[in-house]
Amino acid sequence: MAEETKKRKADHIRICLEHKAQAREATTGFEDVHLIHKALPEIDRAKIDLSTTVFGYKFSAPIIVGAMTGGTEEATRINGAIAEAVEKLHLGMGVGSQRAAIDDKELVKTFAVARKKAPNAFLIANIGGVQLVHGYGVKEVKKAMEMIEADAVAIHLNAMQEAVQPEGQTNFEGVLVKIGDIARALDKPVIVKETGAGVAAEEARELEAAGVQGIDVGGCGGTSFAAVEYYRSEKEEKRFLAEAFWDWGIPTAISLVEATRAVRVPVIASGGLRSGTDFAKALALNASLASVAQPVLEAAVKGAKETEKTLSCFVEELRNAMFLVGAKEIRDLAKVPVLIAGKTAEWLTTRGFKVETYAKRGAS
Ligand SMILES: Cc1cc2nc3c(=O)[nH]c(=O)nc-3n(C[C@H](O)[C@H](O)[C@H](O)COP(=O)(O)O)c2cc1C
Repeated sequence: MAEETKKRKADHIRICLEHKAQAREATTGFEDVHLIHKALPEIDRAKIDLSTTVFGYKFSAPIIVGAMTGGTEEATRINGAIAEAVEKLHLGMGVGSQRAAIDDKELVKTFAVARKKAPNAFLIANIGGVQLVHGYGVKEVKKAMEMIEADAVAIHLNAMQEAVQPEGQTNFEGVLVKIGDIARALDKPVIVKETGAGVAAEEARELEAAGVQGIDVGGCGGTSFAAVEYYRSEKEEKRFLAEAFWDWGIPTAISLVEATRAVRVPVIASGGLRSGTDFAKALALNASLASVAQPVLEAAVKGAKETEKTLSCFVEELRNAMFLVGAKEIRDLAKVPVLIAGKTAEWLTTRGFKVETYAKRGAS
């Protein structure tokens, strides 16, 4: 069992590094989201403040690294490198699913390294929603959190991934009630995150009503777990299902508007964010934090310095975008006019969201 999980985790890393396990035809929708350039920014770039407080924690910039790994030696190095970088930059990170280490204490160190290398950063524990349906409860979630002295826990939803893999667990009956039980029992924030297929307004509302304190939309347009499963399945005849769902899901920008319009709890943007301008657009669409996984994985295998460099580039790009729209503080981004065009506007309008509201912001 543990060996199987170990192999799966190693496969995920290898595939995400070697293959292009990214959305093919599908895009995030951020290409349809336009920030309006301000020829008269009337602010001093040097005075821009990127810090923000979310979940009671002060981040130096609204950027976190998405949950990725644990359970193997390589994963220990990756988690360590990311942790060192986020500690230095005062950001946050998630660790990968901790299921393996809950069942096998030998593996605890592959996750615990994150807290060791990042005594002060915001750390998010990780457990699968489907595990809650299959027997995990408050005890196991607390164990995962204690492992990394977590500031929050993310319960991940990955129905699509489970549905395209031969060994997938596809019974999600009662998952919302179980999530609610966990949210009520813990005194730290419970965040529910998708893993590349997005969250619609209806589910966001249900999750908030169940008591979750944060939603990470994990939208479509970046890493595709159908693609990962496609490369994992050795047998050609098993690949058809994964290939058919390669681009499945709600694009990130759309999911972000749906979720932020539906709930009051902090919403995290993730899924295919690849530049500081993507981060700026996400924040302008009312995300509280923006999260990135795949590009950081590529840097983390090269070490902490490279990881820090990648994250610093995102921070500087975000600062530039803020300068060019005249946003002095992070909260100002949620007030700047945003033009939503193309298929993203069409989708949102059809779903009953008024895209003009974003364009008219700040107009006198
Ligand atoms: C190698 C790899 C492993 C991942 N493992 C997990 C996981 O264990 N738990 C989880 O919640 N998300 C996991 N994710 C999903 C990411 O947290 C994120 O939601 C997704 O990759 C979209 O972000 P991206 O497009 O920036 O990569 C993983 C992603 C990658 C690339």
